[in-house]
Amino acid sequence: MESLASIVSFLEQEEGWRQPSAFLWRADAADRLDLLLLGEHDAALHARATDLLDAMDALDRDGFAAIRDAVRRGEGREALAPWLDVGVPTGQHYDVLDHLLAGVLDLREPHVERPVPPPEMVFYQPTPTRHIVDGVRRARISADDVVLDLGAGLGHVPILVNVLSGARAIGVEREPAYVDSAMDAVRALELDDVSIVQGDARDADLSMVTVYYLFTPFVGTILRDVAAKIEQEARRRAVRVVSLGPCSRTFARMDWLRSDDPLPTAADRIVVFRSTFAGR
Ligand SMILES: C[S@@+](CC[C@H](N)C(=O)[O-])C[C@H]1O[C@@H](n2cnc3c(N)ncnc32)[C@H](O)[C@@H]1O
Repeated sequence: MESLASIVSFLEQEEGWRQPSAFLWRADAADRLDLLLLGEHDAALHARATDLLDAMDALDRDGFAAIRDAVRRGEGREALAPWLDVGVPTGQHYDVLDHLLAGVLDLREPHVERPVPPPEMVFYQPTPTRHIVDGVRRARISADDVVLDLGAGLGHVPILVNVLSGARAIGVEREPAYVDSAMDAVRALELDDVSIVQGDARDADLSMVTVYYLFTPFVGTILRDVAAKIEQEARRRAVRVVSLGPCSRTFARMDWLRSDDPLPTAADRIVVFRSTFAGR
């Protein structure tokens, strides 16, 4: 098993993690240092490890700032390109790509008055970043789309979808504190085509939307009511429903949607559905 002394000595001589873009390298090394520091009583070794962590943090902050500048110039996709090869990811866990997005979004911690959601509504949990990247690619989201995240939380999905695809991206979220934090991030990144609005998903304006995203924000009658509203829109124009979590099972049962996915009920990865009404 590696010791704190050996990993500290190795990192002090290693140049790889000092590259500005080596976020994943640093996140992995910082996790190992944090873990090994827990049981360390040697003050000198402790100080060396802490110096390394401080240096990694400073490099990360510079790197995030550079990507944020690129996003403001409309070059966010190019700046994020080295990290977009995610394959078809699975699982609901978080990884270093979430660390990267968190650094870029720099979200203010929201203060939520009543953290327990009403019946049938699901508490906040962000979509793991790799699934957002995967959804943009497999749903073929482009600048011609209008994307709506129903139950948008802190806005990770609308923001990253817009940065990666140029699509107009909207979120509707019931919790005002989340909306305030999300819109602060949107303004700081100067994303004119992203908006997060406060409200209930059942009352959202669906009239221009071509792609609906749901990371199981609600269940039961609310999900059925919202799905019925999406179906009405799908009778007017072709739409895609992109889902993650148990709500994919609900959409898989709807005869006006089809999916090329071999397992459209899968809960641990993105499923893309397309509307099937004739004439589109
Ligand atoms: C699982 S989180 C998903 C967050 C975000 N879509 C993402 O993927 O990062 C579900 C979110 O839906 C919100 N929500 C639940 N019921 C809602 C409703 N009826 N209308 C609007 N938002 C709702 C919750 O407050 C929570 O932020």
